[in-house]
Amino acid sequence: MNSLILGVSGSPVPNSNTDRLVKCVLENAGQKSEFVKLSQLEIRPCRACLACAKTNICTGIEDDWRVLAPKVVEAKALVIGGWMPFGILDSRTKAFLERTFSLRHSILLNGGKVGAAIVTGTVNPDPVADDIAEYFKGEGIRPMGKIVASGIDPCWSCGLGDECVQGTPYPMVRSGYRPWRYPYADRLPSADEFRITPDIVPPGVMNQDGVIEDARKLGKLISTTLKRDEEARTVLLENLLSGITSKNSIELLLALTEKSHLFGWISNEHEPAKLLSSLKRAEAHRERDENTEAVRELLTFGRDVLYRTGISIREDGSSLLVQEARKAIADLYDVASST
Ligand SMILES: Cc1cc2nc3c(=O)[nH]c(=O)nc-3n(C[C@H](O)[C@H](O)[C@H](O)COP(=O)(O)O)c2cc1C
Repeated sequence: MNSLILGVSGSPVPNSNTDRLVKCVLENAGQKSEFVKLSQLEIRPCRACLACAKTNICTGIEDDWRVLAPKVVEAKALVIGGWMPFGILDSRTKAFLERTFSLRHSILLNGGKVGAAIVTGTVNPDPVADDIAEYFKGEGIRPMGKIVASGIDPCWSCGLGDECVQGTPYPMVRSGYRPWRYPYADRLPSADEFRITPDIVPPGVMNQDGVIEDARKLGKLISTTLKRDEEARTVLLENLLSGITSKNSIELLLALTEKSHLFGWISNEHEPAKLLSSLKRAEAHRERDENTEAVRELLTFGRDVLYRTGISIREDGSSLLVQEARKAIADLYDVASST
């Protein structure tokens, strides 16, 4: 088992604290992983054109989302690293999250994955990390945890120093830093003696108390969870489909759907014949290399399953037919989205 774990960082600073934390989680998961620095790509915000509605493929913007989307679809875990200009999530990470809108139609394509939120900031990154965790929940992604840490405040190194009254030093130090939740306040000298020197700057994340330990644990938790998921899937499919050998993920889904009245998931009132027809059309499209059409049929199938059975995938991301439809789409998405 070697599922892809995708880590993204919205920090534009080379080898930044945010980057290092995301990478630390990936390394400790010990599985196939890829780190993406969003500032090296052009990912524009969603323009709400809704061109993605029927195929879950964004065709409304020509940018690097074309390259990134298949990796997001393939990944079983998303590790999202942001920073916080003006106390809110940075625009690159936000644009990344917005563009995943293209993947949510009909069956929440990212549903059933696991996610982790990492945010660095000067003061109180928790609410921003909680926003990312909320995003996960809305997508049916299981939050595995969050890591917050201190980044390097630009006012410590911009060169304007302690005489600039607009930046962090003035309000933080001269107001007695009472309104701030700044974890390294004890490094700051009194207002009268205040000078920006290297010893008042917070350590890098690798040397912040407990942070790396938490990142290691998070990486391991992601890894164990993915392994457990995959083992559970294998056992379930072996039990349900014993004797059936399927060549690809659509055929497997067909076999499951054919048998699913036996499991009590689908009854006659759910019109199983219609569900099976969708899958047969999807397979016929796949055989003719009409991958976008195959994806469209699989989404129709998934939407029909949910609508007819009344399953809420937010509460029950485990719906096996939907999960296997996501997998079948993931197997085709790279090619489908490039044509
Ligand atoms: C333009 C700008 C605005 C910032 N505003 C805030 C802020 O409002 N609150 C805060 O806690 N940190 C703020 N910061 C500090 C960043 O969050 C900090 O630089 C970031 O954690 C650094 O992460 P990095 O080392 O990964 O680049 C700001 C930084 C920049 C460059």
